Parts: sequence; structure tokens; C-alpha cells
Amino acid sequence: MRILITGGAGFLGSALANALVKQGHEVMALDDLSSGNPDYLDSRVLFHRGSIANRPKLWTLLQGVDCVYHLAARVLVAESILYPREYNEVNVGGTLALLESMRDVQVPKLIFTSSGAIYGEQVQQPVIEEMIPNPRSPYAVSKLSTEYYAHTIGSLWNITTVSLRIFNAYGPGQPLLPSHSPVIPRFLHQALGGGSVVIFGSGTQTRDFVYVDDVVTALIAAATAKHINRQTINVGSGIDTSINALANLILKLTNSSSSILHSTTEDNGVSKLQADIALAKQLLGYQPKVSLEEGIRRILKEDPRFRLS
Ligand SMILES: NC(=O)c1ccc[n+]([C@@H]2O[C@H](COP(=O)([O-])OP(=O)(O)OC[C@H]3O[C@@H](n4cnc5c(N)ncnc54)[C@H](O)[C@@H]3O)[C@@H](O)[C@H]2O)c1
Repeated sequence: MRILITGGAGFLGSALANALVKQGHEVMALDDLSSGNPDYLDSRVLFHRGSIANRPKLWTLLQGVDCVYHLAARVLVAESILYPREYNEVNVGGTLALLESMRDVQVPKLIFTSSGAIYGEQVQQPVIEEMIPNPRSPYAVSKLSTEYYAHTIGSLWNITTVSLRIFNAYGPGQPLLPSHSPVIPRFLHQALGGGSVVIFGSGTQTRDFVYVDDVVTALIAAATAKHINRQTINVGSGIDTSINALANLILKLTNSSSSILHSTTEDNGVSKLQADIALAKQLLGYQPKVSLEEGIRRILKEDPRFRLS
């Protein structure tokens, strides 16, 4: 297949691109490098720097493309609370520009990376796709709006669309940011640096951590799976882990003597989140393979930023 990945220089996009070229597909990655890094890409991936809102560029790149993976987005929940207009412009407006270009060039399929964040606070766990979403940030709203736009417009313009609601993905190469960093690289950095591992809030909040290779497997399966048009599918591990348990696991695996510190700063997230993955199993043949412990061991082995000395 000839494939375009938007956000292809990002954490998930580059892992997906590298896996697809290894399978022999022709892969292009489009990324404006607002946060991504093309250095992680296999040399067989054709990298193009540019925005998803640049329609002339898209018209050229989309010629003969069989499937678009749409990952380009602004992804920081806390930042989205400060800049909701920007999140709407990039995540929703950018997707509409992409869909218009796909219609113009007649590209038949879009696979969109939505987020488990659209569920927000839910009493019933694990969360299933039919639940009424309860987004709690502009980021989550932008992901939910994009699902609706993609599926509605796709059916009007004869584009097959599928949205994968990814939960907390992690793995080698995940960005470590100065603030609002994803929790696993942040804890690894703190544990290996010898400082305190800082938990926001009580640490009893739970998340569904899913290893990058399992996410990539689900994304690849979505390109060829049958009966997925306009489906929205959870992609998590199906297991919830408290932040306290995660911190202790990281201290154990890094042999760190760091202490755990609870900060009163709000976590800003929900108290519990666990994916029901029955639909992914049924439609994508999905079966997560990497446990949280194994996934963290792999980061410690493969990611030079966190290699054990
Ligand atoms: N990582 C997770 O845990 C997770 C969970 C749920 C959903 N997702 C979704 O998966 C996708 C990829 O996430 P990620 O973790 O790899 O994030 P990431 O920030 O590493 O990747 C996003 C990429 O999009 C690029 N980008 C941003 N705006 C762009 C634009 N206007 N034009 C072109 N490129 C642009 C960035 O430079 C970056 O490389 C995102 O859509 C995100 O919402 C990720």
C-alpha cells in the first residue's frame, strides 16, 4: 500500500511509519515538526515537512495514496486549557483541511487517532465505546469533534473512516517535556536522576497504559480489517494501574532509592480510566502483548535517555 502518515515524526507516528516500511509498504510522513523529530524515522520513510492545513502540499502528497493515518495534532491536555482556539484550529480545522484534500484527490480511507480522554470521568469502568462521552478538556473536545466530523464527512464523501481511541501510550522515544510531560518518561527521569518521584495528588488515580508496539499493531490491523467503516474502537491494555503502583514499579525496575513525594498540584485528569477492548479484539483481532513491567524494561534497554548505568 501507499500510505501517508500525518504527524509521522511524532512518538506514535514514527513507530507506525517504521513498522509499515518494514512490512514493505511505501510510506510518507508529513509533519510540521512543531514537536516531532524526523531523526527517529527509518531511512526508507519519505519525510515531508509541512502542515496538514497546507492543501496544495496535500494534493501532491495524496496522489495514489490508499490510506491516510491521521496522527498530527496538538496533544497536551494542560496546554489545551490555555489555548483552546489553537487546539480547535489544528486538531479540528486541520483534520477538515485534510479531509477536503482527500476528497479532492479521492483517497479512500482515513484512520484517525482519537483518545481515551474523550470519556472523561465515568462511574462505570472499563469504559466502552457506546458510553456518552464526558470530555474535560479542549483537547478531549477536539478529539471527539474530529471523530464526529471524520465519520460524518466520510460517509458523505465516500471515504472509509475509523477512529481508534488510544489510551495512555508509552514506550521508547516518548517525549520528556519540561512541563506537563507524560508520566512514564517523567517518573523514569526522576527515578534515574536520584531526585524525588513526584506524584500529583493522591496517586490513587488509575490509567490504562498501553505499549507503543501494541498501539502500532492495532493501527496496522485497522488498514485491512473488514466492517470497520465509521467505527470507533478503544485501544488500551484493558488493565488499569494506579499512579502509586506505577511509581513503585519504576523505582523497583530502576533500582532507584528515590523517595516518592505527593504534590498537592491537581492531576487535572480523571480518577479512573480503563479501556474495554472487546471491540478491538473482535474487529481488529487485537490482543495487547506487552505488560507494563515488560514495557518499562524495554524502555530501560532501548531508550538511550533512560539506559541503566
Ligand atoms: N501518546 C498517547 O498516549 C496518545 C493517546 C491518545 C491519543 N493519541 C493521539 O495520537 C496522535 C499521536 O500522538 P503522539 O503521542 O505521537 O504525539 P506527538 O506530539 O509525538 O505527535 C504529534 C505530531 O504531530 C505533529 N503536528 C502537530 N501539528 C501539526 C500540523 N498542524 N501539521 C503537521 N504536523 C503536526 C507534531 O510535530 C508531532 O510530531 C495524536 O493525534 C494524539 O492525540 C496519543
